[in-house]
Amino acid sequence: MIDKVPKQRQRAAATRDGTLLRVRPEEEADRLAIQTVNRAAFETSAEATLVDVLRAKPSAVASLVADIDGQVVGHIMFSAVTFAEQPAARVVGLAPMAVSPENQRAGVGSALVREGLKLCKQLGYQAVVVLGYPEFYPRFGFVPASRYAIRCEYDAPDDAFMIVELQPHALRSLHGLVRYDEAFASV
Ligand SMILES: CC(C)(COP(=O)(O)OP(=O)(O)OC[C@H]1O[C@@H](n2cnc3c(N)ncnc32)[C@H](O)[C@@H]1OP(=O)(O)O)[C@@H](O)C(=O)NCCC(=O)NCCS
Repeated sequence: MIDKVPKQRQRAAATRDGTLLRVRPEEEADRLAIQTVNRAAFETSAEATLVDVLRAKPSAVASLVADIDGQVVGHIMFSAVTFAEQPAARVVGLAPMAVSPENQRAGVGSALVREGLKLCKQLGYQAVVVLGYPEFYPRFGFVPASRYAIRCEYDAPDDAFMIVELQPHALRSLHGLVRYDEAFASV
């Protein structure tokens, strides 16, 4: 699935200190670097393994990297989620996402989220869900999913499971239990 994302899609965005950052779809040659970034950012290698498993699954939608001078410093992945009561829903989950520790808090993660949301919108998805920091995601338009009676299959504090609509009024028609690809159960 992720191979359907146009390879020529490349965007530049400046980080907070003015360094030029490029956000682009992952290529085969990036895979080791993506593993390295995920291993460095998370406490265990579970997320790095998840990326490798998800990439090969039909649920994988997009995998983007952030690079500075050709070096991968961040990664974000999107995969289709399902709504238990609404089989026709076209919604993706943002996860995992990682920035190498030495490059964190410089705008890399934000650039990845912004480009990822644009791409998912272009691909026709209705909304994106995320289970993550309530301090971070609202700046991109995410709101607590509970506002729309949308729940996560995993236990999470109310404000940590969030959703953003990509198409006007998409949230009016979505509700119920959200399930991630079964690969997430191992994280
Ligand atoms: C979360 C993460 C992807 C953000 O990437 P980033 O490049 O540092 O993000 P940006 O510089 O664009 O934005 C920084 C914001 O991220 C949020 N953030 C980063 N680390 C955080 C943490 N440990 N706890 C809570 N919020 C955090 C803050 O809101 C921060 O804003 P501030 O600098 O104004 O306080 C990155 O810190 C990371 O890889 N963390 C470890 C892996 C991880 O936890 N991933 C899951 C994300 S839900």
